[in-house]
This record gives sequence, C-alpha cells and structure tokens, in this order.
Amino acid sequence: MSDVGLIVGSGLSRLGLDIVARSDTHTPYGPASSRLLTVAAGGRRVLAVARHGEEHTLAPHEVNYRANLWALHRHGVRRCIGVNIVGSIDETFRPGDLAVPDQLIDYTWGRESTFGGADGGVVHAEFAEPFDPALRRTIADAGSAVGLAIRAGGTYGVTQGPRLETRAEIDRLARDGCAMVGMTAMPEAALARELGMGYAICALSVNWAAGRGDAAGDVHAQIDRYLTDGMTRVAALLEQLIRCL
Ligand code: HPA
Repeated sequence: MSDVGLIVGSGLSRLGLDIVARSDTHTPYGPASSRLLTVAAGGRRVLAVARHGEEHTLAPHEVNYRANLWALHRHGVRRCIGVNIVGSIDETFRPGDLAVPDQLIDYTWGRESTFGGADGGVVHAEFAEPFDPALRRTIADAGSAVGLAIRAGGTYGVTQGPRLETRAEIDRLARDGCAMVGMTAMPEAALARELGMGYAICALSVNWAAGRGDAAGDVHAQIDRYLTDGMTRVAALLEQLIRCL
C-alpha cells in the first residue's frame, strides 16, 4: 500500500474510482465519514475516505475531520490529497476550472479543529504555508502532464455552510483576497499538519459564488453540470498523480 491517501468530497460517485476493498475503522475520535476505501489507481493501491460519506449524508459542519485524518494516518498515509469542489470568486478562475490553492482563510466556527487540548496538550502548529508546497507542485504537474489547465495558487476561503453565501459575504471574501470559496478545507488542512502529513488540495470550481459571474441562474443546476464534466478531468489527474507520487 502506498503512503498516499485521498479525501474525496462531493462528486465522489462521478469520479468512477475503482474501489477494491472497504474496511471498518475505529478511532479515538469516533467514526470516520466512511469506511476506509482501498482504491486502485495509477498502478497502485491508495487509501481513501469519502468526506461526506459514501451516500453523501454528512454536511460540511458534520464531517468528523479528526477521525478521517487520524484513520488515514493510522493506516500509513503520509501524503494526503483532498478533492474539493468550490465556487469561483476571482473572475479569472471560472466554473469548470481546476486549481491547487496555496493559501486559505478559515471562516468556519465550532468545528473540532485540533488533536491537542484537554489531555492532549496545547498544539500551535506552524501554518504559514497551509498546503504542502511539494505536493502542490506535483498535483499541478500531474494536471499538465495529462493536458489539463490547472491554476497554481490562489486563496481558498473556507465557510461554515451548509448554506451558500450571501453576496455581501462573497464581496467580503473577495476583499480578503479569496479566489475561491468552499466549506471543507478546514480543519482538514490543520489536522493533517498536526499529524505531520503532507496535505494539498485539487479544487474544482462548479459554480460562480453568490453575486459573481452569471450567478443569476440556478446554482444547483450549475453545480450539477460542472461536477459531471469536472470529475472526469479530476479522475484523469488523480490517475496520473498517483502514478508519479
Ligand atoms: N460556496 C461554498 N462552497 C461551495 C460553493 C460555494 O459557492 N460551491 C461549491 N462549494
């Protein structure tokens, strides 16, 4: 088994992953979002977790991020790739586009966001670079190798959800410098850092964020359309990425 792991969010079923085994996991933090999935890709086997559950039953604020990260780490994962769908804020980053963000701003609240505290001791993880630079480069290179345009960099604003944002909230994120908005990169990135795991994200934009672009249309129809096409490209990227990691 490789030391590479995946945390796959919305769109999992459209990725067409070759899941060859499923195993139960127990963690001190309660149940992970899904059983641990063994995925055959790129000539290897890697472990994966379905972030929202295999039946997509968990909202972003309900995900047990600690259990997911802990389970992957416990089973040997040391480099973890998140697949996250996002909304576009920056007009140069449009629905359908792929990105490897290099920064994030955390607007979430009330999530279990550390393995420390109480009896675990206080942890002040170094987090100036929230995503692993080498892993970011490898994701971007894998995209290029299979002919995909992929934006290297950009700030991911992490909102609480599960509702989408107001126009004023997106204006604020834009002023803060966010190129994209999603609901799940935190506390995932911080927990990976606490465990010493390399972590980076492949983000697929599936809609214009509130008040941006031609956001007047039905946002859910937009998401559906871009998810189906986008996940085919993400699957090609992952196949190449896992092959060369
Ligand atoms: N906002 C927050 N999260 C998202 C969005 C959005 O517009 N699209 C996909 N995930």
